[in-house]
Amino acid sequence: MAKSTLRVAVIGAGRWGGEHARAFSERQDVELCALVDIDPRAAERRAREFRARPYVDLHDMLRAEKPDFASVAVSNMAQFSPTLELIRAGVPLLVEKPLAFSLDDADVLLDEAARRALFFAIDFNHRYARPVMLAREAIRSGRLGDLVFATWRFGGEHSATEHPHANLIETQCHGLDMLEYLCGPIESVAAEMTEMTGRGLTTIVLSLKFASGAVGSLVGSYDSSYQYSNVHLLEVNGTDGHVLVEDTVRRFTYQRKGSEHREVWEAGYFNDVDRAFRRILDSHLDAVLAAFRRDEEPPVHASAGRRALALAFAAIQAYESGRRTMIPPEPHPSTKSAA
Ligand SMILES: NC(=O)c1ccc[n+]([C@@H]2O[C@H](COP(=O)([O-])OP(=O)(O)OC[C@H]3O[C@@H](n4cnc5c(N)ncnc54)[C@H](O)[C@@H]3O)[C@@H](O)[C@H]2O)c1
Repeated sequence: MAKSTLRVAVIGAGRWGGEHARAFSERQDVELCALVDIDPRAAERRAREFRARPYVDLHDMLRAEKPDFASVAVSNMAQFSPTLELIRAGVPLLVEKPLAFSLDDADVLLDEAARRALFFAIDFNHRYARPVMLAREAIRSGRLGDLVFATWRFGGEHSATEHPHANLIETQCHGLDMLEYLCGPIESVAAEMTEMTGRGLTTIVLSLKFASGAVGSLVGSYDSSYQYSNVHLLEVNGTDGHVLVEDTVRRFTYQRKGSEHREVWEAGYFNDVDRAFRRILDSHLDAVLAAFRRDEEPPVHASAGRRALALAFAAIQAYESGRRTMIPPEPHPSTKSAA
């Protein structure tokens, strides 16, 4: 049984690691004890900001602090080694997406954690956005009828990651996870991708078939801008109605087929919590720490990160072969409700 106040360490003191630190430090049930970053200035700055102790060496931190829980938000391609070290030290953890950049690395992490029966969560935080929770509920309660198609579009600027498939693996993993979360398993994928801006395959279009018979599309890009309107759009269309999620946290719309009336959720005037993208991390943490305290599986197990990676590699294979790739049936690893 977890202690009443958890001592938490955050690994990675950059932009999003700062959000992890903020979210943990605002919790009554947590003492943020340490911030670890290989860049000493980053570690010190965040540690000062959130009144924790800075470390540049994970091993030193583990020996000195013995945290009850850790979260990892380091540079995208650097996650494997600190995650493995935490797992081998037996520290329950939440890691950022993507879980890894190779299925072998993902399997090592999952196997090592499973051998220790370790709590191992991944931050697919989009599931905890209010519009997504409303969409999931509308689908589950049958208000859409049978799902026929779903579409996900998400585009912004380049990341610093030096990998030809950075956009697909580190950003569109949210879309692959979300489409299966809402519509069930994907059974095949076809793909087109472009590298016309010279920084890898930075814009991709996927054509998806779900095991249910429904179809889907995913457009993802690093050749766009987060300043555009409707940077993110998710639509799920069924025989009886459809839902739209705009910019993840901005708006949810449900409309019954044939009706001119729409049901819309938008954050109210004083509701700064649900309108803020960063706050979906806090909602996810509520669920993560509640599950951890109850000795349950994480609400989004790290294996969901492996599944998104497997789908990404199936898309890469489809693009490179010019043929549709079949995806072996596999139950979606975490279909628990975000509610
Ligand atoms: N779930 C989300 O909505 C969301 C949003 C933004 C970022 N992220 C994820 O968060 C992670 C961090 O992104 P960011 O924008 O903060 O990046 P960033 O570049 O701002 O910060 C990364 C930090 O990690 C540090 N670092 C690198 N290797 C390390 C190691 N081995 N040990 C300790 N520190 C190390 C770097 O020095 C840097 O300070 C990425 O995995 C990213 O995909 C998730």
